[in-house]
Amino acid sequence: MTTFVHSDLDVSAAKVVASGQALYPTQARASAAAAIALHPNASPMSGADRTKILENPGFGQYFSDNVVRATWNKAQGWTAGELISSATSSGGFGMNALHYGQSIFEGLKAYRHEDGSIYTFRPEANALRFQRSATRLALPPVPTDLFIGAIETLVRQDQAWVPNDPDKSLYLRPLEFGSENALGVRPSLEVTYVLMACPVGAYFPKGVKPVSVWLSDDYVRAAPGGTGEAKCAGNYAASLVAQAEATENGCDQVVWIDATERKYIEEMGGMNMFFVYGSGDSARLVTPRLTGTLLPGVTRDSVLTLARDLGYQVEEGTISVEQWRAGCASGEITETFACGTAAVITPVGRVDSKNSGAWTIADGGSGEVTMKLRAALVEIQTGRAPDTHNWLHRLV
Ligand code: COI
Repeated sequence: MTTFVHSDLDVSAAKVVASGQALYPTQARASAAAAIALHPNASPMSGADRTKILENPGFGQYFSDNVVRATWNKAQGWTAGELISSATSSGGFGMNALHYGQSIFEGLKAYRHEDGSIYTFRPEANALRFQRSATRLALPPVPTDLFIGAIETLVRQDQAWVPNDPDKSLYLRPLEFGSENALGVRPSLEVTYVLMACPVGAYFPKGVKPVSVWLSDDYVRAAPGGTGEAKCAGNYAASLVAQAEATENGCDQVVWIDATERKYIEEMGGMNMFFVYGSGDSARLVTPRLTGTLLPGVTRDSVLTLARDLGYQVEEGTISVEQWRAGCASGEITETFACGTAAVITPVGRVDSKNSGAWTIADGGSGEVTMKLRAALVEIQTGRAPDTHNWLHRLV
C-alpha cells in the first residue's frame, strides 16, 4: 500500500480489524473541551423560533447556533479549536474537497434524559472510525480528545437545542475535509475539522414503520481495496443514482450487493442490515461480516452486544440475495432490519429488484425481535435502562 505525504499518517490504522479483535475497544476518555476558545454566535435564534423548530425538526434541516472548528496544517498540526457561529463559512472554490473529494464525516447524537442531563453514546467509537476514515482518505486523523472535546463544547453551548422528548435528539455531524485551495492531485496540506449539530426526529418521514428496499443490480457501492469501510463523502455521492432508482421503483432505500460475486448482501444506503431467523428466545441474528467493503457501524456493533445480552444467537456471516428470498418464502427468515445512528433500528417490510423479483418479509416487517432490540438500545441512550456497557458519555 502507498504511503502518503503526511508523516503522521499511520496507514495500518486504516486496515480492516482482524476477526476476533474488538472492533471498537474502549479507549481512555480524554477531553480537549477546556482548550477550545469560545466565540459564540452573537445573534442566536430566539427561544420562540427554536421551540417551533424543535416541535417538528425532521432530519438535518435546521442547524443549532454554533459549530466548533479546528484546522490543521503540516507544520503546526491541529489547532486547539474554536466555537463560532454556525453562519460562518470559509474556503474558496479551489478547495481540495470540492474537486477531489477528500472529505469524511461521522454521525452521533446527544440525548436529553428525564432529569435534564444530556449524554452522547460511544463517542470514542466514532472518534476511532473517523480516524480510520481519515487515514484511508490521506487526511490527518483528528485526535480523540479534540473529537470529544468539540462535542462537549458545542453541546454545552447549544444545549437548548437538545429536544426534551425521547423520540428526538440533537444529531452531531463531525466533518473533516481538505480545505487547501490548490488543484494538484495530492493530499491537501490544509485541513478543516468542523462539528455541527441539528435537532432531529425520525430519519424516515413515516417514522418507525417498515421500509421497502430496492436491490441495486446495476450499481456497486464498494469493491475490495476501495473506500467502502470509510465514511467518506464520495461513497454517498456515488450512491445517489441508485437511491433515485429505488425511489423510481417505489422503494424507500437501496440495498447494496457485493462487487465481486454480485450475490451477497452488504448494506443499505447508510445503514447496516440484520436478518432474523426463527422467533422468540430461540431467534438467531445474522449480519454481513465486515469484509472491508462495508461500513463498520457503531449501532451495528451495539446491536451485536445487545442481541447477545437478550439471549439471541448472533452471527457475522454472509447472506445471499437468494438465501434472503428463499428464507422469507419458507418462513425461516422472520424479520429483517436496518440500523444506524440516524435511522436507529428500522424494520424492512418489502424487497424489490430488477433481477431477483419481489417479496415481502414475514408479517411485512413489524418484527418482535427488531422492536425488542430497538427498545433495548433506545432505553440505554435515553437513560431509561442501566448503562451496563459504559456506553454513555455525559455532556451536561
Ligand atoms: C448516520 O446514521 O449517522 C449516517 O451517517 C447515515 C446518513 C444520515 C448519512
